[in-house]
Amino acid sequence: MKALVVVGGGGHGRELLDVVEAVNAVRPQFDLLGVLDDGTPDLEVLAACGVRHLGPVRLLAELDAQYVLGIGSPDARRVIDLAATEWGRVPATLVHPSAVVGRRVTLGPGTVVCGLASITTNVRTGRHVHLNIAATVAHDCRLGDYVTLAPGARLSGAVTAGEGSTIGTGAVVIQGCAVGAGTIVGAGAVVVRDLPADVVAVGVPARPRPSARNASGVP
Ligand SMILES: CC(C)(COP(=O)(O)OP(=O)(O)OC[C@H]1O[C@@H](n2cnc3c(N)ncnc32)[C@H](O)[C@@H]1OP(=O)(O)O)[C@@H](O)C(=O)NCCC(=O)NCCS
Repeated sequence: MKALVVVGGGGHGRELLDVVEAVNAVRPQFDLLGVLDDGTPDLEVLAACGVRHLGPVRLLAELDAQYVLGIGSPDARRVIDLAATEWGRVPATLVHPSAVVGRRVTLGPGTVVCGLASITTNVRTGRHVHLNIAATVAHDCRLGDYVTLAPGARLSGAVTAGEGSTIGTGAVVIQGCAVGAGTIVGAGAVVVRDLPADVVAVGVPARPRPSARNASGVP
């Protein structure tokens, strides 16, 4: 059994608790120590999930435990991952037993594949990539570090999702398209052309509009 903490005690963190529970139900692998969160997670809700709030994220420096990041924001995952790596911590990779993952798939450290998600063949994910429930990834896709696929997002074959990009719930990316680093594809959008970095793209077909990050001039 490997000691494990989930970083983030909000909704996504609790979704990861469910993934850990489902993994352990098939074959006990993780001794779940609890949740780390710098904010004020709902302790009652966490207790109902059978876990404790252990304290702030910096406690990870002192815990002899693997970690997964139950945080939706790719930027926040990157920041915490860099700190955790400096502290010598190693991420766990989680695959819900109801997910379908092909044999020639390489999942990067910290990647989480939630229930009913599917990955077919010759796919690579980077660090802390999150495939939420029922997301699908077809052949030859490349998902950079900290990519998020929201529930039901669909990547056709040979799609590239740049580092820190987010594909919104129910969005579709057709075959061969590249989504730039940091870009957000809105819920329900259909991407039919490459998208540049750091834009928000919505609609069918998806068209970029300047992201808040660009609009504020923050690099
Ligand atoms: C695209 C998105 C990032 C925009 O967020 P935002 O910048 O806060 O946008 P706002 O809500 O202020 O809306 C701005 C405009 O875009 C429109 N819009 C927002 N999301 C849209 C979408 N997905 N498709 C089409 N139009 C959208 C709004 O109607 C609004 O139009 P208006 O100015 O004509 O009224 C967000 O709406 C979205 O789709 N996020 C993905 C959510 C998701 O997948 N969640 C999963 C969680 S597990």
